[in-house]
Amino acid sequence: MVERIKVNFRKVQHGLWLIIEKLLRWCVHPWLRARALNVLGARIAAHVRIDEIMLVNPVLGFKNLSIDHDSYIGTGTIIDLIGKVEIGSHTSISPGCMLMTHSDPGSQFGSGLCSVFPRRVSTISIGSHVWVGAGTIILAGVTIGDYVVIGAGSLVNRSLPDHVLAYGQPARVVKRLPELAVPTDKYCEKKADSEL
Ligand SMILES: CC(C)(COP(=O)(O)OP(=O)(O)OC[C@H]1O[C@@H](n2cnc3c(N)ncnc32)[C@H](O)[C@@H]1OP(=O)(O)O)[C@@H](O)C(=O)NCCC(=O)NCCS
Repeated sequence: MVERIKVNFRKVQHGLWLIIEKLLRWCVHPWLRARALNVLGARIAAHVRIDEIMLVNPVLGFKNLSIDHDSYIGTGTIIDLIGKVEIGSHTSISPGCMLMTHSDPGSQFGSGLCSVFPRRVSTISIGSHVWVGAGTIILAGVTIGDYVVIGAGSLVNRSLPDHVLAYGQPARVVKRLPELAVPTDKYCEKKADSEL
């Protein structure tokens, strides 16, 4: 009986998160959406812009999402919140990307494929100063370093080190990028001006 009440409570809670997630898409302003997510349990730092995205599987609400300051997530991106998604600062996720933190052929429905491909949940971690090209798919367990560029339409199924350009399906490192100095001073001056 207690177990049944627990299961029903979880279902109701999940249902509420799903409704809130839908309402979030109505937030007209990307800054406002970021702030609202922060209040709802995600860790979203200052100056983050989140366009109209889809947060799927918010079973635990939004607490699995953390985004550091000055990052951007483009329209139509799908983020799977079963596992953790950590995004660094100054990072841009272009429109139409997919960040999938779990793989499961259907364990809830008794899929026989689970004996070969068991359910797996792992964190996706994306560094700072990363540019993820439009339509890229990033799979569970992938860690992407800092100062990485991923070409549009890539499938990232393996981790990538710092300072590289990678693209393709699957994404492969095609070039090492120069170690760039962070343009902190200029950037801050410009930003201070634009915020006046
Ligand atoms: C990865 C990227 C930055 C590379 O730009 P670039 O250095 O100017 O690259 P080039 O266009 O000169 O292409 C160089 C080579 O890489 C290949 N290439 C470039 N991007 C590729 C991609 N996404 N997938 C596969 N191959 C790609 C080109 O075909 C070319 O190959 P070749 O030398 O055999 O002809 C760019 O192609 C890209 O994908 N940008 C993302 C754009 C985007 O998502 N915009 C959304 C809004 S921000």
